[in-house]
Amino acid sequence: MSLWKGRFNGKADAQMWELNASISFDQRMGVQDVRGSLAWSKALELAGVLTADERTQLEAGLNQIESEFRFQKFTFVPEDEDIHTAVERRLGELIGPLAGKLHTGRSRNDQVATDLRLWLLDHLPKLVAAIANLQSVLIHRAETDLGTLMPGYTHLQRAQPILLSHWWLSHFWPLQRDLDRLAALEPRIAVLSLGAGALAGTPFPIDRHALAESLGFDHPAPNSLDAVSDRDFAAEFLFIAALTGTHLSKLAENIVLFTSAEFAFFELDDAYGTGSSLMPQKKNPDPFELARGKAGTLLGYLSGLMATLKGLPSAYDKDLQEDKVPVFQAFDTLMALLPVMANALRTLTVYPQRMESAIDAGMMATDLADYLVGRGIPFREAHTLTGQAVKLALEKGSTLEALTLSDYQSLHPVFDESVYAVFDPRGSIARRKAFGGTAPEAVKEQIKQAKEKLQGSNG
Ligand code: ARG
Repeated sequence: MSLWKGRFNGKADAQMWELNASISFDQRMGVQDVRGSLAWSKALELAGVLTADERTQLEAGLNQIESEFRFQKFTFVPEDEDIHTAVERRLGELIGPLAGKLHTGRSRNDQVATDLRLWLLDHLPKLVAAIANLQSVLIHRAETDLGTLMPGYTHLQRAQPILLSHWWLSHFWPLQRDLDRLAALEPRIAVLSLGAGALAGTPFPIDRHALAESLGFDHPAPNSLDAVSDRDFAAEFLFIAALTGTHLSKLAENIVLFTSAEFAFFELDDAYGTGSSLMPQKKNPDPFELARGKAGTLLGYLSGLMATLKGLPSAYDKDLQEDKVPVFQAFDTLMALLPVMANALRTLTVYPQRMESAIDAGMMATDLADYLVGRGIPFREAHTLTGQAVKLALEKGSTLEALTLSDYQSLHPVFDESVYAVFDPRGSIARRKAFGGTAPEAVKEQIKQAKEKLQGSNG
C-alpha cells in the first residue's frame, strides 16, 4: 500500500510503479531508516506529540524491524514503494495503527536525505580501512624492495634512475590525500536533514539540535529547503571515489605495463592473473585492467549525478532519487577493487635484475651536467655540453659511459677521469637526498612519515 493513496482513485499503472519505486536499491538503507525513525519518535515524544507509552511501543516495533534487517529476515512486499514505505508497513503489521503516528511532522524528503547521510557515515570507515590496507601494502613493499633500482620515466621514456621503493610510495601519497578528503567530507555529511519536513520545516516543536546529536550529526541543516535538496555530500563522495579510482588506475596501468614481457619487471602471482581461452601461455593482468576500466565507470557516476543535480528547481524533486545508485555503486566498486589490488601487490614478484638492466648510462646525463656544474660551468652550458656528448655517443654507436676521456675533453677541457663515476646509478640515486628525493636515506624518512600518516588517518 502506498503512503499517498488518499487522493487517488485508480491504481498506479504497473510499469509506472516499477519506474517510480526505489525499493530495489534503497532497501540497503533499512537499518539507517529505522535509526532515523527511532530518533524521530523520541523527538516527537519530547515535542509532546507522542506519549511515552506510544513512543515505547513504536520503539519496540522499530527495534524488531531493525533486527529483521540485520538478520536478513525482513520480507518485502510488492507494494513497498521504497524503504520508508516498507518500514512503516511492517511497523503497522507489528504494532497496529499506532504505526501511523510515526510520520507526524516528517516527510520522506527529509527522511531519505537523512538515511543516505547515515548510510554514508556508516560505510565510510569500511572504505577508509580498505584504502589504508592498500597503503600498508605499498609501505610494506617500499620496505622490502629498498635495495632495488629501476628506471624512472617521464613521457614513458627512460629518464633517471630511482629506487623501486620511491616508486611504490609515489602511489601511497595520492591515496593518503583521498583519505584526507574523506575525513574532510565527513562533517559535511554529518548534517541533519530531518525536521525540514517536505520543504518548509516541521510545525511541531521538534528540538532539531537534540535530534541532530541523537543521530550523531554535528548540527541541523539551517534551511529546510536546502536540507531536502542538498546532495553536495553525495557529489563530493563521488568525486573522491572517482579520484581514488583515478589513482588506482594509474597504479594499475603501471602494473599492466611492468608485467608485460617487454618490461618484465614484475610478475603477478597466479592467484591474481587470468588465463586466455585460446592462448595457453598467457597470464593476463585482469584485476589491474579492471581497475583502469572502473576508474572510467566511477567518473561516470560523478558526472551522472552532477548532471542530475544541475538545473533542478528548489527543494525536493524526484530526480534526487537518482542519487543512491551511483553512491552505492561507487562504494561497491572501490570495495571490490581495493582488497584485490592490495593482495595482488603483496604477492607480486619483482625482478630486480631486469629493472636494473633497464637503466642505461644515458639516464645519468643529468648527473653528467651536474658534474660540470660542480666544476664551475653554468648549468645551461653544461646541459648543452652533455647534449653534445649524447650526440657524440649516438654517432659512434656507443654510450656515454663508453666515450673515451679524449672524446670528453674534445668537448671541454674540464673533464677528467672522475667523470666515469657519474654513471653509477646508485650514486645518482644517492645524490638525490634532499627531502622527498629518491636517495635511500630520504626514502627511509619517507617510509617513516607514511607510516605516521597512515596511523593518524586510520587510528
Ligand atoms: N524514494 C524517494 C527517494 O529516494 C524518497 C523520497 C520520496 N519523496 C517524494 N516526495 N516522493 O528520493
